[in-house]
This record gives sequence, C-alpha cells and structure tokens, in this order.
Amino acid sequence: MARPDAAPITRDRAGPGPDTGSGGGGTGSSGTGSSGSGSGGSGLMRRKPVERLIAESGQGEGGQLRRSLGMWQLTMISIGATLGTGIFVVLGEAVPKAGPAVVISFVIAGLTALFSALSYAELAGTIPVAGSSYSYTYATMGEFIAWICGWCLMLEYGVSVAAVAVGWGQYLNEFLDGTIGVTIPTALSAPPGDGGVINIPALLVVLLAMAFLLGGARESARANTIMVVVKIASLILFCVVAASGIKAGNYKPFMPLGMTGVSAAGASLFFSYIGFDAASTAGEEARNPKRDMPRAIMLSLLIVTVLYCLVALIAVGAMPWQHFHNADAALAQIMRDVTGQSFWAVLLAAGAVIAIASVVLTVLYGQTRILFSMARDGLVPKVFAKVGPRTGAPVANTVIVSLFCGILAAVVPLGELANATSIGTLFAFALVNVAVIVLRRTRPDMPRNFRVAFSPVTPAIGFALCLWMMTSLGAKTWVWFGIWMAAGLVLYFGYGMRRSQLAREEVTAREDVTAREEV
Ligand code: ALA
Repeated sequence: MARPDAAPITRDRAGPGPDTGSGGGGTGSSGTGSSGSGSGGSGLMRRKPVERLIAESGQGEGGQLRRSLGMWQLTMISIGATLGTGIFVVLGEAVPKAGPAVVISFVIAGLTALFSALSYAELAGTIPVAGSSYSYTYATMGEFIAWICGWCLMLEYGVSVAAVAVGWGQYLNEFLDGTIGVTIPTALSAPPGDGGVINIPALLVVLLAMAFLLGGARESARANTIMVVVKIASLILFCVVAASGIKAGNYKPFMPLGMTGVSAAGASLFFSYIGFDAASTAGEEARNPKRDMPRAIMLSLLIVTVLYCLVALIAVGAMPWQHFHNADAALAQIMRDVTGQSFWAVLLAAGAVIAIASVVLTVLYGQTRILFSMARDGLVPKVFAKVGPRTGAPVANTVIVSLFCGILAAVVPLGELANATSIGTLFAFALVNVAVIVLRRTRPDMPRNFRVAFSPVTPAIGFALCLWMMTSLGAKTWVWFGIWMAAGLVLYFGYGMRRSQLAREEVTAREDVTAREEV
C-alpha cells in the first residue's frame, strides 16, 4: 500500500478539540479546533473530521434521533429501497433493448453495484452516520465535493421517490382492473408529458409514506419489513408459476441486438439496484451501526441480485422478447398468459403495489436523513435538522421532502425521472469509491469493521464502472444532469458556502486571531 499521507492524519486527529461555540449545531464537546485546521483543509476543501462526524451522530436541532434499528431491519430497509419499479416495470422496458440477454444486463448492472457496495460497506462501517456518501466525501474530499455528492443524492433519493411513485400507479391500475374492473382514467393517473393532467396515485403513495415516516423510524421499519416479505413472496410466486410456461425457443436468438443492446439495457436496469445503500442513511438510528450496516448492505445486494436474475431468466423464457414492447405491467401479463387466469396476475399486481410502496417509504426515509445531516452542517436550512420530541423523527423535514417529491411525481413522466436518478446515483457511487481510496491513505489506522479487498484496485474498478455506465445514458439525460448540477452550484455559492458550520467556525477563528493581534 502507498505511504500514508502524514499531513492530513495530523489534521484529522487534531479534529475533535475545544468547541468554538459558533452557531450551535449540537456538537457539544466534539466541535472542531478553533483554528479552522481542526476541520482539515480550508475554504471549499475544508473537511469534517471523521471523529467529529461520529460525535455529532444522532444530534438534531432540539432533539435526538433514536437508535432502534437492528441488522435485520437495516437489511430490510436496503431491500425495501431496492426491490420495486426496476424489476416490476423497468424490466419490461429493458427486454426490447437486449432480448433474452437481459439476464446479462442484470449481471452487468449488478457488478457495477457490487463494486460500489463494497466501498459503501467499508465506509458505512467506519463512519456510521446518517449522511451516507455525503458525509463520507465531507470527511475525505472536502465540503465542495460533499455538496456535489449530496446534491447527486437528491437525484438518487428525492427524484427516485417520484420516479418510483409513478411506476406504482401502473400496477395499481392493473390491480384495480383485475379486482373491481375499473381503472383510474389517464387524465388522473398520468402526468402532462404522458397524456394525462396529473398523476394522483403517485401523489397519494408519497403522502402515505409520509404518514408512516412521521410515526418514527421504528414504526416505519416495521411496516417496511412486512412489505418486503410480501414483495419477495410475490417474486418467488412469479418464478414458481411462470416457470411452467418456459419455452426453450424463447431464448433464441439470445442476443438479438448484440452487446450494444445488452449494455444499453444494463444502464437502464442499474435503476433496479439503486437503494442497496439506503441502510447507510440509518447510521444514526442503528443500534450497532459499525457492525450491522456493512452486513446489511452486502446481504441486501446478494438477495436482490439472485432474485433479479431468476425473475429475468424466467420472464424471457415464458414470453417471447418481442412481446415485451407492448406490456405495461409485464410480469402480471406473463402470469395471465401462462395460467390463462387473471387471478394470478391480480395477485402479482397486489404484490407489486405493496413492493413499490415500500421503495417509496424507504427512499423517502433516506432522503430525509441525508438532508438532516446536511442541515446539521449548515449547508441547507436548519429546519431540516429539527427533531420532533414525541417520535424522534425530523417532522418538518419529512413534510417538506414529501410534498416536493409528491408534486414532482404528479407532474413529471417516469422515464425522464428514472434516467436522471441513475446518472446522479452513479456519480455519487463514483465518489464513494474515491472516498475509500482517500480514507485508506489519510487514515490507514482507523478501525474498519469491513475492508474492501485489494484496495485501491477494487474501488478504482468501481469508479471506472460507474463512469462507464454514465456514458451509456443518453444525451438528454446528460443535459438534465448538467442543469441539475448548475442549479446545485448556484445554491452552494449562494447559500451553503457561507452558512456552512465549518465556514462560520473559520470566520470565528480568524476574528479571534485578529482580536488577539490587536491586544
Ligand atoms: N431500485 C429501486 C426500484 O427499482 C429504485 O424501484
């Protein structure tokens, strides 16, 4: 391994020191040293020491988050956030691109996720806080990159809630059609770009998730666990029933559109893996975060990858790949075609309705916790860090985020949102891989409960895979990404840079020095 970088170690170790007392933030005795060097770096590069991140853990404005989640619930949070629209809806859109080789697309997307998951596992076990990759980059690459990362996480979490909520409406209609023979009219179940006026179901599911989250993390985790069990059961049911309809001929030709199609489908299907990192946003509510978070991340990824590959293999075996073009709720249609009865399709649609609702719940949870961390650091308004005394949940934060995501889901089409989500997530994952390499160099001695093997090669591969996947996304997505990042820069330079807790401590430190010099 490369020689440890001595200077940053010294600065990081100097981190926790006497509090400057500038601006509260609930740091208690864990604040930075008053010289600004306590934060490591200065200006846009100022870093928040790992020890300080950990010491501030759980502290909100006027209250504490509660530690109530065990390893099982953390795994369920990650599976809850991952398994949903991707397999129930996006699979149907990916098959026409790749043909039966969509299975390989799942493996490619899964491998990209795996490399980054290893990095997440190492950092979640080392810096177990609510901000996930935002906090990891704050500790390693400084405030500006952390802001960029946090801004990308809003695509991964905030915008994906909206994308997922849109997919929910499709299966809700399938379910309503099969049970009571009515569907919500397009005007009320699709956004303007998709031939409707407003997507009411999408708005509803977000508001429902908000109601759970306001009840507290423990209650939300309980509801999520039940929903995860239901969604895994529905996919297993799909495998069992649809397997009887497999025809060997459907696998030929296996790769009708070549490797280009396979990798394009892989880029779309990456969406289905987003969310495995959700457990890392629960670092301040986990009972034993250092031990449980790495395990939860890896276990959830393993479970969803196996399920995805099985479902995809059976789906393309049971229905000719060309038929996926016109299938809105593909898995439900396969169930109907194979059994000749709509009962099974309705059952699967019910499972999907519950499955996708749990993604909305857990991803919304993640977004609120990331904003919680950013607010504590002063990069977004403090209202996002206010904790309700009764439930220990960030109430105002949850309401604001839910309304924002709900309205977005009601008026923007799924495809646009899903691609924007993927590009933002891939960028955040790329940064997490870099953060592992940086922290290994700057803090080689830190106790790590989970270590990525063969670092820096493994995280470097993870980084390269993320960038490669980003290039597979279309030009339109890149334009949206550019606009999003430009908006983020305006906000940082207009607000966060000056309001940042560390920036204010730097100012106080400078004023102290000036005052001392004048005496
Ligand atoms: N991975 C999540 C889903 O597929 C976003 O719904």
